Amino acid sequence: MKDAAPQDAQQATRLSDYRPFSHLIDSVKMVFRLSPDATRVRTEIRFRPNPAATDHTTLRLDGEKLRLISATIDRTPVSPDVTDTHLTCAVPGGPFLWESEVEIAPTSNTALEGLYMSNGMYCTQCEAEGFRKITYYPDRPDVMATFSVRIEGDAPVLLSNGNPGDSGDGFAEWHDPWPKPAYLFALVAGDLVAHSGQFTTMHGADVALNIWVRPGDEDKCDYALDALIRSMKWDEEVYGRAYDLSVFNIVAVDDFNMGAMENKGLNVFNSRYVLASPETATDLDYERIEGIIAHEYFHNWTGNRITCRDWFQLCLKEGLTVFRDQQFSGDMRSRPVKRIADVLQLRARQFREDNGPLAHPVRPESYVEINNFYTATIYEKGAELIGMLKRIVGDAEYDKALALYFERHDGQACTIEDWLQVFEDSTGRDLTQFKRWYQQPGTPRLKVTESFDNNRLTVNLRQYTPPTPGHAAKEPQVIPIAFGFLHPDGNDMTGSEMLIMDKAEDQITFDTKGPRPVLSILRGFSAPVIVEREMTIEQRAFLLAHDTDPFNRWEAGRTLAKDVLTSMVVDGATPAPVFLSALDKVLRDETLEPAFRSLCIALPGDDDMAQTLFDAGLTPDPDAIRDARQRLTREIAETNGDVLGGIFDAMAVPGPYAPDAKGAGARALRLSALGFLSHIDGGARAERLFEAADNMTEQVGALAALLATEKGDEQVAAFENQWRDDRLVMDKWLMLQTMLAAPERAAEVTRDLAARADFDWKNPNRFRSLIGGLAGNHGGLHHESGAAYELIADWLIRLDPVNPQTTARMTTIFETWRRYDADRQGMMRAAMERIAATPGLSRDTDEMVGRILG
Ligand code: TRP
Ligand code: ZN
Repeated sequence: MKDAAPQDAQQATRLSDYRPFSHLIDSVKMVFRLSPDATRVRTEIRFRPNPAATDHTTLRLDGEKLRLISATIDRTPVSPDVTDTHLTCAVPGGPFLWESEVEIAPTSNTALEGLYMSNGMYCTQCEAEGFRKITYYPDRPDVMATFSVRIEGDAPVLLSNGNPGDSGDGFAEWHDPWPKPAYLFALVAGDLVAHSGQFTTMHGADVALNIWVRPGDEDKCDYALDALIRSMKWDEEVYGRAYDLSVFNIVAVDDFNMGAMENKGLNVFNSRYVLASPETATDLDYERIEGIIAHEYFHNWTGNRITCRDWFQLCLKEGLTVFRDQQFSGDMRSRPVKRIADVLQLRARQFREDNGPLAHPVRPESYVEINNFYTATIYEKGAELIGMLKRIVGDAEYDKALALYFERHDGQACTIEDWLQVFEDSTGRDLTQFKRWYQQPGTPRLKVTESFDNNRLTVNLRQYTPPTPGHAAKEPQVIPIAFGFLHPDGNDMTGSEMLIMDKAEDQITFDTKGPRPVLSILRGFSAPVIVEREMTIEQRAFLLAHDTDPFNRWEAGRTLAKDVLTSMVVDGATPAPVFLSALDKVLRDETLEPAFRSLCIALPGDDDMAQTLFDAGLTPDPDAIRDARQRLTREIAETNGDVLGGIFDAMAVPGPYAPDAKGAGARALRLSALGFLSHIDGGARAERLFEAADNMTEQVGALAALLATEKGDEQVAAFENQWRDDRLVMDKWLMLQTMLAAPERAAEVTRDLAARADFDWKNPNRFRSLIGGLAGNHGGLHHESGAAYELIADWLIRLDPVNPQTTARMTTIFETWRRYDADRQGMMRAAMERIAATPGLSRDTDEMVGRILG
């Protein structure tokens, strides 16, 4: 079948063009006859006219890469008009039965969208528009239907959505009683084994839980199952939401474009977010497994029972579900530590996006390829909007509003308007202005200035949002600002208060009898904005030492580190002693949990510093940034070596490894200390730890410490020897080497690793480890030779015809190109233009490169 013509391919879909579908569906019945090269799919759909639509005489069904075998209406053969993307057919004005049979080829589906094969196992990925590669169907989320599925095939395990029905030799039937859009359809078939458990809901219903993996992996499922059970319990306790089927299946798949997918009753996961054992998974892996298991499970209510009307409403399910998984992880571990980790991630991914050519509203107005809009803005900024709403209305009102949302919209496909209406109705507030957060892209800046006269501190606040592509002028937004004041003796004077700022300018005043208080603002990161506030390093050090808000304590240290690094880059200054002694104090403060201390001493990464310098009106020099960070690391190690050495010894966790938050925090602090100490001890501690480690957290931590100081050749070889047969562990090995290679060697190291026989580049995890690792090596990526730009462009061009979705995502490596000097800009532009000029480039990659080039 020929591909869609390019002019066709570039057509944008617009929110303003939304029209309801012509028909509603009463039920869908499907029969799959599985075969790797020629799977037959028979589909019966009971259509009836949609009263909300006008034309009921033509049926238009989406379909791509399908071979139509037959089609009937009310059992009479019809000959629809078929194109590469859809079919159209004249239909009776009333209800009718549509039947079709198509043939598809799972083995040749390398895009990992639709029905494909991964290691001999059949699996599906339908969000956002993959179902149309399985059968002709109205593939849009506002068309919801109940599905009955029969799978015929010789695989021992045959799974689909819903509750199990009849099964026997070579077949299995499934029925999903809950109406759902096609993007939540799933089918899995293969030689799988289950790690099983059980859950009883708060209504007393029994649910069978299964984690399905390839034989041999069943001993790596304990943690995922435990996380699932804790998620089910938490959603009952905190949101009053119970599970609604007799079985919940999770399948681990090796070839997967993203993290995981919330298909009704049959979540499909990238195996890296399921499989874990102490020897093979790090603390961070465990934490991610917990968070993603929760995320997909929580979608059962926020996404599945209540879904999206169209893909412009994606943040309705994703923003809310990310917010819920963040709450869950905070409850399971430490709230302040989780908040800091989420803000770090928001800044690294979403602020980066908002400040570049790909900036878009949380609810976009148009897209060419919807897969390109599963972004940090939709997910993470979307989650921040929920958090702000909760802060504005208060916890109790939030709970009431959510209860109304579930009650009012269960079984529906909704919009952001529906969501905000629920909050307006339930709280009596007018959220018209708040809605701007969904419509205006860009990160608001909050300028803070102060004056102190007659014992009165006046804080002047001004908000503005810089222009972003297609959105020049911005209106003031509603910004919840949590703040407090500290006495110069270090005591909190007021606790935390909240200002809901809704104008461009506002003021806070504070009368005091004594000396000038110190302001702590945007406590808990109460809104996703950039605070612009001039402070001395002494003031920052004061807040780092005394703020009662843990987030702002960390934030003070962070901005302090950035100030120090900036002056080291700009005037070659030596690190300020105030900073070093502030770190010393934090390190010694045993009232602070280790995970928090570990975050406080972590230096900002190079990409973060590049953005910081760029925001300050400078052109970031990647070598100077790296050099400053290395110098500062060494300086800290030399000045604070004793306390760091003490921590390294004291934080050794006794006994067998357990992935609990407390142990993970101690290991994190210990490895942070090691990262500094390795710069002055010749790598002795890291070598010993590598030798002795009985868990992956320490093994990888030690190896990283060695590689970061250009040592570790021997350990790299030993690691490979030990783990060459474990694909997930070898992904770490690939990534560490490309990410930590010296800048002048990074492209070469990547090229050599890519030439290995086991570099199976069609596997997204493998590709992301190697190429993503190089991209995460700021100095290496931006080495003046341009070798990394070239290499990345070569690989993206090679991957594009195989897997457009993953290729398109990875073009964001170049999204910051305008930050850098003319030479580097020229080289990055040339690399992107070479990608853009590739004949037959996918619509996905074409859209991304076009937008990045601007
Ligand atoms: N809805 C999924 C989630 O947030 C993510 C997702 C969207 C996805 N499209 C996908 C996953 C394609 C895999 C492949 O959890
Ligand atoms: Zn999601």
